[in-house]
Amino acid sequence: MTERISSSTLEIKDLDVSFIQGEKEANALRGISLSLKRKEVHSLVGESGSGKTVTSTCIMGLLPPQVARINRGEIFLGEQNILALEEKDQRKIRGKEIAMVFQEPARYLNPTLKVGEQITEMLRLHLGMDKGEAVTRALEILDLVGLDGGKRILGSYPHELSGGMKQRIMIAIAISCDPSFLIADEPTTALDVTLQLQILNLILSLKNRLDMGILFISHDLRVVRDISDWISVIYAGRIVESASKEELFSNPRHPYTRMLFESIPDADKRGKRLKAIPGKVPDAENIPQGCAFHPRCPIAEEICGSNQPETKDVESNSALDSHTAACHLIGKQWKN
Ligand SMILES: Nc1ncnc2c1ncn2[C@@H]1O[C@H](COP(=O)(O)OP(=O)(O)O)[C@@H](O)[C@H]1O
Ligand code: SF4
Ligand SMILES: [Mg+2]
Repeated sequence: MTERISSSTLEIKDLDVSFIQGEKEANALRGISLSLKRKEVHSLVGESGSGKTVTSTCIMGLLPPQVARINRGEIFLGEQNILALEEKDQRKIRGKEIAMVFQEPARYLNPTLKVGEQITEMLRLHLGMDKGEAVTRALEILDLVGLDGGKRILGSYPHELSGGMKQRIMIAIAISCDPSFLIADEPTTALDVTLQLQILNLILSLKNRLDMGILFISHDLRVVRDISDWISVIYAGRIVESASKEELFSNPRHPYTRMLFESIPDADKRGKRLKAIPGKVPDAENIPQGCAFHPRCPIAEEICGSNQPETKDVESNSALDSHTAACHLIGKQWKN
């Protein structure tokens, strides 16, 4: 079996990514930085089109090579910048040290291969197991992800399984090599509420059992409320606010975060009208100058349309936790 690297942090530094098509450039990530520790759930939250999936696919090395360009940035797994490694070495690390689950298992699972072959292939490729060892381990993993009848499932094709089972199989494949980090990109968005809860609980229990760090990606602040340790809010390819969950929920400082909170249905707000955020996330081809949020921001001033705000520390309710936000008018009083 190959040696385990077991890094304790995954750190994304100043990641800047564009898609180039002819004359057009879509600057989808504009200097993303975030840090993930093992045994921690760090959620990345923002409306659709804000750059969440580009972040996850870039970490996994799955950006479309014909059109994507990494302009700058680093992805450190422990001490090692994986973007500086040769592609074959990057591939070895991804899948083994960093694994990913997607929104749509149907697109990820190979319809022509039995589930068992798809799980054992990972084990043989990354961990060098022989067939017998891989099957034994695959049965253990199915048990871990809460699937009974292991042998029958290993012999099934994906289309013979329900949506919830396919989601569990995808998670089984992702965790098969005991990764240090799991990236979960909207893993429950396509599921009904009951299944959503089951899959969230499964991801949390696996995090605890396997000591993984999880980058949990969602457009829905309600979903991340129960599971996150830390939350970063992304808008138009930049992190606009980042804090511990308790701090962010009790002391949101960026106008976009505050408006996201106002737009979520909540038991406390029953009977009150929810406020949708006017306008929409800009296309990565047409990011507004200055603060990208200024056309939608109720308190924008002249400086907001011309200067991009830097990310700064803001006063935190907790002396222990840092809290950062990128806004020129962080102290301005307003009621949304
Ligand atoms: N292959 C691509 N070519 C051009 N633009 C893209 C491509 N993939 C994503 N984008 C753009 O990058 C931005 C962020 O997209 P994405 O990360 O998928 O958003 P999210 O996952 O937050 O909904 C969007 O403006 C999207 O149109
Ligand atoms: S910098 Fe200006 S436009 Fe941007 S969020 Fe802050 S106040 Fe609003
Ligand atoms: Mg997405």
